[in-house]
Amino acid sequence: MLEHDVIIVGGGLAGCRAAVEIARTDSGLNVAVVAKTHPIRSHSVAAQGGIAATLKNVDADDNWEAHAFDTVKGSDYLADQDAVEILAREAPDAIIDLEHMGVLFSRLPDGRIAQRAFGGHSQRRTCYAADKTGHAILHELVNNLRRYGITIYDEWYVMQLIVEDAQAKGIVMYRLLDGQIEVVRAKAVMVATGGYGRAFNTTSNDYASTGDGLAMAALAGIPLEDMEFVQFHPTGLYPVGVLISEAVRGEGAYLINSQGDRFMAAYAPSKMELAPRDITSRAIAREIAAGRGINVDGSAGGPFVHLDVRHLGKEKIMSRIPFAWEESHRLVGIDAVHQPIPVRPTIHYSMGGIPTNTSGQVRSSSSGLIDGLFAAGEAACVSVHGANRLGSNSLLECVVYGKITGAAIARFVSNRKLPQLDDRPYLQAAGQQIQSLLALSGNMRIQPLRQALQDCMTEYCGVFRTQEVMQAGLAKLQELQQQYQQIYLDDKGKLWNTEIVEALELRSLLVVAQLILTSALHRQESRGAHYREDYPQREDANFLKHTLAYYSPAGIEIDYLPVQITMFEPQERKY
Ligand code: FUM
Repeated sequence: MLEHDVIIVGGGLAGCRAAVEIARTDSGLNVAVVAKTHPIRSHSVAAQGGIAATLKNVDADDNWEAHAFDTVKGSDYLADQDAVEILAREAPDAIIDLEHMGVLFSRLPDGRIAQRAFGGHSQRRTCYAADKTGHAILHELVNNLRRYGITIYDEWYVMQLIVEDAQAKGIVMYRLLDGQIEVVRAKAVMVATGGYGRAFNTTSNDYASTGDGLAMAALAGIPLEDMEFVQFHPTGLYPVGVLISEAVRGEGAYLINSQGDRFMAAYAPSKMELAPRDITSRAIAREIAAGRGINVDGSAGGPFVHLDVRHLGKEKIMSRIPFAWEESHRLVGIDAVHQPIPVRPTIHYSMGGIPTNTSGQVRSSSSGLIDGLFAAGEAACVSVHGANRLGSNSLLECVVYGKITGAAIARFVSNRKLPQLDDRPYLQAAGQQIQSLLALSGNMRIQPLRQALQDCMTEYCGVFRTQEVMQAGLAKLQELQQQYQQIYLDDKGKLWNTEIVEALELRSLLVVAQLILTSALHRQESRGAHYREDYPQREDANFLKHTLAYYSPAGIEIDYLPVQITMFEPQERKY
């Protein structure tokens, strides 16, 4: 059995930042990061537009209270305000710390870190590295893992979280290279595996964003919080769905319908293109549904709207948003200096996740904690985003709560012994699971089943939802769950068998999809990204609370957790 003081599952921003903090706090601790890709290839690397913090380099009268208010209002008042306060207060120091690690932020002419406008923020407070901010930050953090001597298990898939008697004791992991299975025993386990964008058929997320950490937690009996809140990013590049950063609108781009109108005037007149994402995504979906979308030949009635940057000029486009230009050019042949970019909403982010307190400790229920289990980043729900996240707050959450969680883990493990653990039943069960996957002899390959699941979630759990539609979606998911037994794997070998990982990822997606749809069915109101056509109003009297969904193969049980309201009383949300 392998042993570490701390094992962190996930090599993205939150996991890496936590690992660095643990090593900084106590260099004697034996810390390991395990990830199914190399950490440099984690989805955090794809984050583009920036990271929010009230540095006041551009808008001198900004302050953390304004950042906190914008975040809470953006969340449709579902965010926990104690957690938001920490996020906003800690943000400036978190950026300076990143800069000291070597992150190359874009600069103002006087050399200070540049800041731009972003949706739902009342001031220009988003720091950035052109439109490749995640790339710039992740590379430095991974360099720091090496500097601090942290062990990296890359291209290992974590199959199970070991939790006995409400205590986390380790993980079971599978090496892609040769099929080796290992149990890792640890004093503390952290989950930082990111989101589940691949549960839908059009997403800005990486192929690896399959909700494995969420499913792992759910299968260990841990509830998942607020899973109904799925963020659509307004500007996915049509038809591929990859991200065209909000930075593009932050720099002044227009959203235009087939009539040539800047239609956001009808939906969010004071914010226009920089309204929060839930509002902007619904506006685009409504324009398209009303026949004011655009076709590839330029005629009306099509499936996308235009994002127009032509008035910004070539110099600004190429210096501030070069990646948006490059993606449009490479993927759909659009030269954004001269042509508008076709966009429509794309699945982008999970507001919900593994419930934690503000130290990153995982909740076992509305009142208890799992000993030795921590989570941060998109996989977690601390909840700073509530029902709708503001752009540039997710990188911030990763670094602020990655750091806080790392420090909490370092305190937690000091003077603790490794837990008692018999690894044999876990090795046996994991070996059997792999063998039974290899033995499946159905008539369906994995890809069409995954596609059917993605189509199901897109059709039955989209921007607009109703009870009838979601119930049909759940019934369809049951069928797909049955069909999982009908798959077969072509590759029966042990060496680099990617089909085994795809089969395990599909299991994760099926679990997560059921949790999303069931949580969405139970929330009979509209709030943030969760819009119910059959319940179009926000209902604070009944639903100003977090959903906790407990998974079991027999069914999902729903409970609730109160929202922490410490600074701002809920109000009607207008922009
Ligand atoms: O649009 C973007 O660049 C995305 C930023 C974010 O999700 O925070």
